[in-house]
Amino acid sequence: MSQRVICYPSEEAWVEGVTAQIVGRLRAALAARRRATLLLAGGSTPEPIYRRLAQAERVDWANVHFFWGDERCVPPDDPESNFGMARDTLLAPLGIAPDAPNVHRFPTEDEPHASAAMYDQNLRLFFKLAPGELPRFDLALLGMGEDGHTASLFPESPALEEGKRLAMANDVPSLETTRLTVTFPLLNAARCLFLLVRGTGKAPVVAELLADPAAPYPVARLRPTEGDLLWLLDAGAASRLPDGTCEEG
Ligand code: 6PG
Repeated sequence: MSQRVICYPSEEAWVEGVTAQIVGRLRAALAARRRATLLLAGGSTPEPIYRRLAQAERVDWANVHFFWGDERCVPPDDPESNFGMARDTLLAPLGIAPDAPNVHRFPTEDEPHASAAMYDQNLRLFFKLAPGELPRFDLALLGMGEDGHTASLFPESPALEEGKRLAMANDVPSLETTRLTVTFPLLNAARCLFLLVRGTGKAPVVAELLADPAAPYPVARLRPTEGDLLWLLDAGAASRLPDGTCEEG
């Protein structure tokens, strides 16, 4: 695993820099394999990046396959939907229909366990996986909560220990709800993980995790087997880091 910490001096620089990093990875995957597989993050952090990404040029979007790293158990038109957020900020501006063949959302119409199982099966079919084989996403975008969760892999939740399934329904004690999430085996098989973190509220956990990779947070379990892990931080998220930690973005 190779890890880099890139810190951007302003929100605008962070949006521009992260967008350029994403475009670079997508273009490299498209050039190498004539398709790119992109796992999208939910929450609010990625929104300005998706809006900017939709304006990027020279990306063969028809051959980019969009998946989601996690989802709330709500319909696509619910304001809480991670799919709905990406549809409105990225897919629609790109002219990509919600049911386009390169859009692979969690099917949240069913009960959580069935939805997760269907998504797991869809992943295995799309990547043509042999039993026990893991998908190698070209790029996985992830956010982080102030409790150090990522995707919907929350502290004290059963999905943290999952070693076989690619996706599952996860009971989240802190939210008193069930979320749908990919698992660490899937994430750690990716060619590249981008951890997008913005805001001073997350700075203490960022500093703790970068000082101690074994810190007791779910994000500490992001250890791509052969891939790269890039922390892409705005000034607020990087504000507790010691000098010398960051590459200047
Ligand atoms: C979700 C996300 C989750 C998110 C973090 C950060 O469904 O909420 O996938 O992992 O990335 O909770 O959320 P914000 O970006 O809103 O701070």
